[in-house]
Order: sequence, then structure tokens, then C-alpha cells
Amino acid sequence: MKTKRCSLMMAICFVAALPFCAMASGHGSPSPKKVGILLVAFGSSEASAQVSFSNIEKKVKATFPDIPVRWAYTSHIIREKLTKEGKVLNSPATALARMQDEKFTHVAVQSLHTIDGEEYHDLNRTVASFRSMGGFQKIMLGYPLLSTQADFERVATAIFQVIPKTRKASDAVLLMGHGTPHPANAFYAAMMFQLQLQDPNVFVGTVEGYPEIDVILDMLVKKNIKKTYLMPFMSVAGDHAKNDMAGKEADSWKSVLEKAGITCETVLKGTAEYDAFVDIWVDHLKVCLNHFK
Ligand code: CO
Repeated sequence: MKTKRCSLMMAICFVAALPFCAMASGHGSPSPKKVGILLVAFGSSEASAQVSFSNIEKKVKATFPDIPVRWAYTSHIIREKLTKEGKVLNSPATALARMQDEKFTHVAVQSLHTIDGEEYHDLNRTVASFRSMGGFQKIMLGYPLLSTQADFERVATAIFQVIPKTRKASDAVLLMGHGTPHPANAFYAAMMFQLQLQDPNVFVGTVEGYPEIDVILDMLVKKNIKKTYLMPFMSVAGDHAKNDMAGKEADSWKSVLEKAGITCETVLKGTAEYDAFVDIWVDHLKVCLNHFK
């Protein structure tokens, strides 16, 4: 009895699945394999951010010369702002729909975010919905800059490589991360821990999360720091780096620290301008593309 019901169910399932199979095979002729890369950044309204995006694209194209590259931006505020200026940028969903139209069968989506916060998780949901719709034969999402312990160690090495050579051991280095209300905000303090294992005068704060500048300032004062280098820990040196970090306003990090008697030297370069960081994103992309072999 049990077996009978079971085989009846199987028969129903089989019949029910038929139309979907026919649809998926596109009237019997499977599409030829076409692999594509979708690079996804938060976006920036600053023209200077283009330096970072161009550097990533150059590196990706050099590493995977035969694979077409498309772009998408997760910040709808940035997309809206730029649309008003006549620059139309795709959201990840729009970019993926276009790639479907272009008959891509395998897509490696690479997040260019720093941590797996809100933007990354939204992107993950978009990728998952294209996967469940059967939009591509395969679609994979690459990790942001910081994911595994190995990433933390590589990022620490990259940071030490790009700290200006003029810096003395007694000078602090303070990196400005973005910060988020998402639980992944803890990555910034974890990054600071990783850096301080090698150099106790390197700090990581955030502009929109924790640790905020007041927390870091207390740490600098306790250590009797007289000078600090300020560097963005974001892929682009955009609005936050120029204004919230290095700006003239009273609440910029530079102003807050200088008011406390700490001399500041600012470095206005996003992490994606340095190959040491871009190599990490490219390696995450490589992991995705290896799934298509
Ligand atoms: Co922001």
C-alpha cells in the first residue's frame, strides 16, 4: 500500500515536472556555455572613486582575459543620485537580468564590499533568487574582502604594505572603516585585533558603526600618541574619506584628533587602489569561477 502510494506520487511529480523541463531546455536546444563576471560595488558619488573601480576592472580583466565583465552597484541612493546626473548604473538585479538577455549561462558575482554586512546580504538574496528562478545554469557569489581568518591575515599584510614609509613606530595609524548596524560590524574590531598582534599602534574605527572616533581617541590618549596617520578602510576614498575623515569641519576625525593635540597626516586612497587588496577580491572571484570548470 505504502509503495503504491509512493510510486503514484512519483508519477504525479514526474508529469508535473515535465513542462518545467521543456521550458528549461529552451525548446530542446540547450544554450552554449557562456561565462560572465559581475562586479558589484557599493558605489560612490565621487568621481575620484572611479580610480578604484578601474583598478579592480583592470586586474580582473588581466586575470581572466576571456571572460566578459559587467558592473552593478548596491547603493540605491548612489544610483539615484547619479541617474539625476545622467549616469545610469545598474542594480545587481538589473545587471543580472541583462546578463540573462545576453545569454550568459554561468555567472560569477563578485562582491567588492569590505565585510559581509547589509549590502552583501542583500546581494546574496538577489543571487539566490536568480538561482531559484533557474536564471542561469550556475550562479555563484564571491566573498567580500574580509571573510575567512586567512583574509584577515592577508588584509593585515596589505595594510602594513601601504602604510606610508615616513611613519615612525611611535606614530599611530588609524583606519576609517564604514561601519554598519548589521552584526558583521564586529569585523572592524576583529581587524584591529589582527593588526595589533603585529603593531599595537594601528587602530581601526568606523564612521557609522563601532568603534567610533571617541573610543579610538581615548585609546590614543592613553598611549600618549602625538601623531597619527589617517587612512580609509573602504574600497574608495570618497565622501567619507574626504569629509568625515580628512575634512575641515569640527566633527571630522582630523579635527577631533587635532583638538586633542594629535597631529594628523591623511592618506586619501581607497583600498581598491592598491593591488595588495585587489588581489584578495580577485582570489575570491577565482574560487567562484573554479566551480564552472
Ligand atoms: Co556611508
